[in-house]
Amino acid sequence: MKLLIDDAHIDDIKFIYEYFPVTGVTTNPTILSKIGGNPFDTLRRIREFIGEDAELHVQAVSKTAEDIVREAHHIVKILGANTYVKIPAVREGFKAMKILVDTSEILITATAIYTPMQAFIAGQCGASYAAPYVNRIDNMGFDGIRVAQEIQKIFIANCMEIEVIAASFKNSQQVLELCKSGVGAATVAPNIFNALIANSAIDDAVDNFIADFESFAGVNKSMLDFS
Ligand code: E4P
Repeated sequence: MKLLIDDAHIDDIKFIYEYFPVTGVTTNPTILSKIGGNPFDTLRRIREFIGEDAELHVQAVSKTAEDIVREAHHIVKILGANTYVKIPAVREGFKAMKILVDTSEILITATAIYTPMQAFIAGQCGASYAAPYVNRIDNMGFDGIRVAQEIQKIFIANCMEIEVIAASFKNSQQVLELCKSGVGAATVAPNIFNALIANSAIDDAVDNFIADFESFAGVNKSMLDFS
């Protein structure tokens, strides 16, 4: 399961990249609204930092299929290869996906997915990823993990190349559950990244090893001090 950062704050992105294996960055209009200004200034900054090989997911906000197609070309022209255009999995979005797949090489992430059927249709339209919103589905009184797992099963049962990129998490346990199911990717906010490895028992174990070493070698000593 690939891990992506669901955020646009460049300092947070840099921090997570330093400590975790990351495949790329996803954004949405709400995330970009937290930065403000020209969205391409924010997105260029992210692209420059993550490099041209990393995935950058950017949402189109136009309302008609034809405008979504024009917006998708505009986004990719500015942000380059490995930019996935997020297109809502609704009627106009499906039409736009079909046009883009038939007429271009633009990569598509079907977004705003609350039901397995949206993901199936997106896959048939040629999208590369489908993004079920785990936590938002939970908040509607359904089981977001289960929906994401069902989507994964549908893709496998129908030999579809589209992958799940699970989104909208509120805790690290949700990410773990989908990791166990082998979904293709999860996009996770920086605070959830940190929660993936937060465990005081592990920190205590490491601290105890260091204390035991220093008890005979001296404070702040390491294997570097011996040969
Ligand atoms: C990703 O595609 C979604 O836009 C995002 O993960 C939604 O997360 P939220 O429900 O925390 O806003």
